[in-house]
Amino acid sequence: MRTKVAIIGAGPAGLLLGQLLESYGIDNVIIERQSADYVLGRIRAGLLEEGTVRLLDEVGAGSRARREGLLHDGIELAFGGARHRIDMKALTGKTVMIYGQTEVTLDLMNARKAAGLTTVYQAADVTPLDFDTDHPRVTYVKDGATHEIECDFIAGCDGFHGISRASVNPTAIETFERVYPFGWLGILSETPPVSHELIYSNHARGFALCTMRSMHRSRHYVQCSLDDHVDQWPDDRFWDELKRRIDQKAADELVTGPSIEKSIAPLRSFVAEPMRFGRMFLAGDAAHIVPPTGAKGLNLAASDAHYLATALREYYDEKSSAGIDHYSATALARVWKAVRFSWWMTSMLHKFPDTGTIGARIQLAELDYVCSSQAAMTSLAENYVGLPF
Ligand code: APR
Ligand code: PHB
Repeated sequence: MRTKVAIIGAGPAGLLLGQLLESYGIDNVIIERQSADYVLGRIRAGLLEEGTVRLLDEVGAGSRARREGLLHDGIELAFGGARHRIDMKALTGKTVMIYGQTEVTLDLMNARKAAGLTTVYQAADVTPLDFDTDHPRVTYVKDGATHEIECDFIAGCDGFHGISRASVNPTAIETFERVYPFGWLGILSETPPVSHELIYSNHARGFALCTMRSMHRSRHYVQCSLDDHVDQWPDDRFWDELKRRIDQKAADELVTGPSIEKSIAPLRSFVAEPMRFGRMFLAGDAAHIVPPTGAKGLNLAASDAHYLATALREYYDEKSSAGIDHYSATALARVWKAVRFSWWMTSMLHKFPDTGTIGARIQLAELDYVCSSQAAMTSLAENYVGLPF
């Protein structure tokens, strides 16, 4: 098989890149390790920046999000027993959309199927080869046979645990990592959200977040120990702990119910530099990971896909390599700003055992300052709604 761009990974980065390339007339094939149902079964965050929704529109996959997504003008920060609203629309003119990543992935899968593009699911031993030559290729095993895809370029969109970054000569890549000393325990429940906007709570017992998937399906998180296991958190314990970490009004109004999904995720900041290795590019979680506090993971996957598709369009249409030569620097400039913001939000809102009581008081002072300063609220808001592409 031959294609212009071989994309490894059918998550948001790979699927959006594939549709952007298709819209530019650039043939591409996606090779995915799992089944489509498995990919859709992953529970992930669900907050889209305006730029991400525009990209979905651009590839004809935005109509359901526009119909079903919830537009939010603001968020609330809870600390010291009270809630403080950040009116992002008033401060930036922009809103964010609540729309599950699963739905984004499904819409992109449907758009790809409608375009008749090739996606190889359940491909084993996917291997990017010869990407430091002018003739890169990807091999994989399916139905007991080894297959090869010859291509002009490889896009490694295979997430943090993928094969693409792992295939790069260790001397050619530099990584930066911070692992946080706690995790997020998240549950999904068919219960109405406690508020019409998100509530991020700093509490002496630990961080909590009240978010949602719709006005009938809620998503809640509490900071937990990395030693915790979901079996130690029956629903009643979760709801009791959540109520202790949010303000009294929210606790009184919280509607609890059986969890339909429950999981613990670790938090890390990670960046790999550069994001290009000869004729292989990394995009999305394959190149960077942010703690979910700033809701940037999916949106960075989208901006990487935008930058890479634009660069490849320039290569094929204008016979110019300027775009692909600058892809890594362009993408990393936005990635590092999101890494900083996600680290800042995480540092301000979570309980850090090693910073002691003075650390907790400094956090409260920072939250008090942010919520009483137009400049500080604007800074938070313009990062939260998404910096320009
Ligand atoms: N071969 C083929 N496919 C692979 C391989 C491999 N060796 N390793 C991983 N994959 C697939 C995974 O099965 C997954 O479907 O690559 C895809 C990567 O998707 P994501 O991990 O979702 O990463 P990305 O597309 O960059 O999207 C980032 O997804 O996980 C969330 O929080 C993250 O919101 C962020 C977004
Ligand atoms: C979510 O809806 O899952 C979500 C929203 C905002 C975040 C993190 C997670 O910062």
